[in-house]
Amino acid sequence: MIKLNFSPKVDEAISKRILDEVYQDPMGGWAELPGRINMEELAEIRKSAQKIQNESEVLVLIGIGGSYLGHRALIEALRPKSELKIVYAGNSLSKRELDFALDEVGEADFSVIVISKSGTTLEPAVAFEAFKKKLVEKYGEKEAYSRIYATTDANSGALHDETVANGYTRFVVPDNIGGRYSVLTAVGLLPLAAAGVNIEELLVGAAEAMRENSTAVLYGFMRYALGKKGYNTEVFASFEPATMYFNEWLKQLFGESEGKNRQGIFPASVVYSTDLHSLGQFMQDGRRDLFETIIDYPTDEMNAKVVTAVVKAHTAGGIPVLLIKPSSFDERGFGELIYFFELSCAISAKLFGVNPFDQPGVEAYKKELKKLLS
Ligand code: PA5
Repeated sequence: MIKLNFSPKVDEAISKRILDEVYQDPMGGWAELPGRINMEELAEIRKSAQKIQNESEVLVLIGIGGSYLGHRALIEALRPKSELKIVYAGNSLSKRELDFALDEVGEADFSVIVISKSGTTLEPAVAFEAFKKKLVEKYGEKEAYSRIYATTDANSGALHDETVANGYTRFVVPDNIGGRYSVLTAVGLLPLAAAGVNIEELLVGAAEAMRENSTAVLYGFMRYALGKKGYNTEVFASFEPATMYFNEWLKQLFGESEGKNRQGIFPASVVYSTDLHSLGQFMQDGRRDLFETIIDYPTDEMNAKVVTAVVKAHTAGGIPVLLIKPSSFDERGFGELIYFFELSCAISAKLFGVNPFDQPGVEAYKKELKKLLS
């Protein structure tokens, strides 16, 4: 179970109301997910993961935002033992990055997982065209299509239509789960299983956090209270370099869920002790409108001493320091953390009075880009 070093007073009636709102939200499908695993789908995921491993030296993972950060975070953190090399694409519009990804695959045997809930996002669409071309040139159309796995909406979108027309292996993002809450659906589970992560253990950890939801409530209320007191930035800190992408997942989850109607806490991140030699000065002595949330992963003796030193120094420097201690650094521990953060994020967003599950602000730049491209 996740342990905390804080315990704010929580009004039970408000907490119950907010939890009900989260669980009953039309986009709250993720909240009951660990208790409602679809065993048939899980078997299909395992079967596809095995096929990818048997046929490929390289797996190309195409997606952006919620269709990318969750599985990358866990693959980077857990470093599963596997012969399969992972190449990421479709998470920027840089031609340089795309060419680099194509070169990384080189002449190796490869498969592609393309993920896009809407099926219309530009970045993955551009990368997918390039890798599809490479697949068809190498294997011919029939085999190429058998090496493509698409996770997208059940009924609509350009990727959905193409998947049905060309017979790619298809997985579905449920209607009631949005991108950044989708890591425990096929969006995250297929890439993770193919990469050698134990997805069953991940789901067990998430189910544990679902049953023990009281810590997520405390953290959701605590960050809301700090936000209201004028602590406008939350710095997520960890002492394990492999969790850098988990921090990126956190920033997307909180930033996109909460930053609306001129509300929300700006999420930032650091990895110590590396960043003690860059941002450490600011944390110790800079503007005092931020708080620090340390994810205190189980670690070695020396690193643990740095954690203690940092907590002492930053607290003395006037920074509220929240400690979140997961039970283990493995699939089960990360399953717990994912559910814990998803729930606490939905709770604090609801407390701020914003919808945790939409992202209307992301559309503004897309409209501008469309105008320029047309
Ligand atoms: O959380 C979200 O909804 C977004 O970050 C999306 O995941 C991201 O924009 C990618 O969208 P899509 O999966 O439709 O390509």
